[in-house]
Amino acid sequence: MKLSALDETSAKPAVIGRDMTLEIVRITEAAAIAASAWRGKGDEKAADAAAVEAMRAEMGRIRIQGRIVIGEGERDEAPMLFIGEEVGMGQGPEVDIAVDPLEGTTLCAKNQPDSICVLAMAERGGLLNAPDVYMHKLAIGAGYPDGVVDLDQSPTDNVRALARAKGVPVNEITACVLDRPRHAALIEELRSTGIALKLISDGDIAGIIHAVNAEDTGIDIYLGSGGAPEGVLAAAALRCIGGQMQGRLILDTDDKRDRARRMGITEPNRKYRTEELASGDVLFAATGVTDGSFLSGVRFRKDHVRTQTVVMRSWSQTVRWITAEHRR
Ligand code: FBP
Repeated sequence: MKLSALDETSAKPAVIGRDMTLEIVRITEAAAIAASAWRGKGDEKAADAAAVEAMRAEMGRIRIQGRIVIGEGERDEAPMLFIGEEVGMGQGPEVDIAVDPLEGTTLCAKNQPDSICVLAMAERGGLLNAPDVYMHKLAIGAGYPDGVVDLDQSPTDNVRALARAKGVPVNEITACVLDRPRHAALIEELRSTGIALKLISDGDIAGIIHAVNAEDTGIDIYLGSGGAPEGVLAAAALRCIGGQMQGRLILDTDDKRDRARRMGITEPNRKYRTEELASGDVLFAATGVTDGSFLSGVRFRKDHVRTQTVVMRSWSQTVRWITAEHRR
């Protein structure tokens, strides 16, 4: 694989060259533009299908030997971007790809904040092949001692430990949790500690990214269960921006355990750390579909369409915010 000049002179050469950063932005931009035509139209499936098709088409123009490891589902249930699908031009670096072509399909259908198109790329074998089950998730920002919070501690112990490490009283901690009936006990327990809660209706990739950006968002910790594929994508982002995350698959039926085994998960109860969910060289990109707290949504103007994307690279820890104008 040909590396860029900077990469070639580095002590630790990158496996995925930096030129790939802009290539993946094109993919999430295309998906966001396609999905944005379905904002506020109440049709989650059509919005998702539009994003998937645009993402797949754009991927075919990139010089990679790509393999989808997290996508739209198994081969028999998804026509495009299914797990195991070979994507890209078939030349260039061998990479694994995780996508959530439209994260927050309901947010898009209702035109609510933080619907985004997401992609992560890693060197071959770098992304956990997570089945489409729930995952327990816990995330905090950078700058705390390793292991200050832990999935094996109670939520109460975690927020108390975090408050101590931050040097503030517990009631000055804010936690982000998906607002779901399954989280009723978690929400009650967290409220009893005196912390503030930010309940989100959907979109835990954005939720986790917010929790590691406490300076900007005021959110200190993310807790609760959500999709395992979204957990891997969030971990890819954290590999680039720092912070700590832990995830544990929820394999509570034989069917789920079988599915996980078929995908190579040999330890069903394993607690994964960020770098075990996404390892080696990782790139992450997300483009806003609807206006959100960290990305603007797609804007249609008379002569152009404007998109906003955040793209990150673990090798350099660079985070770029790219506003693009696409001529109509
Ligand atoms: P979709 O885009 O597939 O609708 O996922 C949105 C989402 O909120 C994810 O961010 C989250 O991980 C998952 O759904 C939670 O699942 P559930 O809605 O079943 O609680």
